[in-house]
Amino acid sequence: MTLATGNLSRDRASPHGLTPSGPGFASYDLTSDPNRIGILTQPGFLILRAAPERATIVHRGLMVLRDFLCAEVPAPPAAAASKITMVPANLTDRDRFAMHTADPACKGCHDAFDPLGYPFEPFDLAGRFRARDEFGNVLRSDGQVNLDSSAQPFKSTAEFAALLARSPTVQRCFVQKLYQYAAGRALEAPDGSTIDDLAKQFTSAGRTYSAALTAVAASPAFRALAPVK
Ligand code: HEC
Repeated sequence: MTLATGNLSRDRASPHGLTPSGPGFASYDLTSDPNRIGILTQPGFLILRAAPERATIVHRGLMVLRDFLCAEVPAPPAAAASKITMVPANLTDRDRFAMHTADPACKGCHDAFDPLGYPFEPFDLAGRFRARDEFGNVLRSDGQVNLDSSAQPFKSTAEFAALLARSPTVQRCFVQKLYQYAAGRALEAPDGSTIDDLAKQFTSAGRTYSAALTAVAASPAFRALAPVK
């Protein structure tokens, strides 16, 4: 989450402002770039949910909600599409969505994920960092995230990544995803206690990837799984 090293192909090195070293993938030290930290600022992650129609805040925010917090929101109501307020096109995504969803009927849902997309607004569709958008608006990456039952402010994408890395909810979600992948099936309520145990082992063993894999592989629940047919 907070590693300042990037494994980048030669093509991706230049957009990062780095001098390509060698023809293929290489490991780059990104400590001198305050805007690159961990998986959240890797172009591969940023491109995945970048929407050409500029609702990128929504789609990147939903990705964080689902993949890092293991939370979900209901599908948007069918009527929402016809209620989208017309807003000036030359505003930032953040300002456009604040206007779109000012209606309490929209806000209840969108407040759960739009703010999770705020830290990524300075990254364009190709994952390049820019201080201003094409209209000259200054792009912000600060905001506030509701994590572990409290509102936690952040000033930058890097601070946001650090908050996620420290969060017990995110740590539990990480082992949950790993266990689900290992089990090869959707998880159900009775799996909750297995995930709790795995999360405890993961945190007490220093929160490394290998600690998570070891905990999953050695867990009685994993060893008792029926082979996937
Ligand atoms: C029940 C939760 C919920 C409510 C209520 C809701 N939305 Fe959404 N909205 C979503 C979700 C989830 C998405 C992402 C849909 C997707 O996966 O494409 C979304 C996407 C959007 C988008 C982006 C569409 C795109 O991809 O370009 C807009 C604009 C939007 N909502 C506006 C509104 C407005 C305006 C209202 C109120 C009238 C509203 N929403 C109410 C959940 C909600």
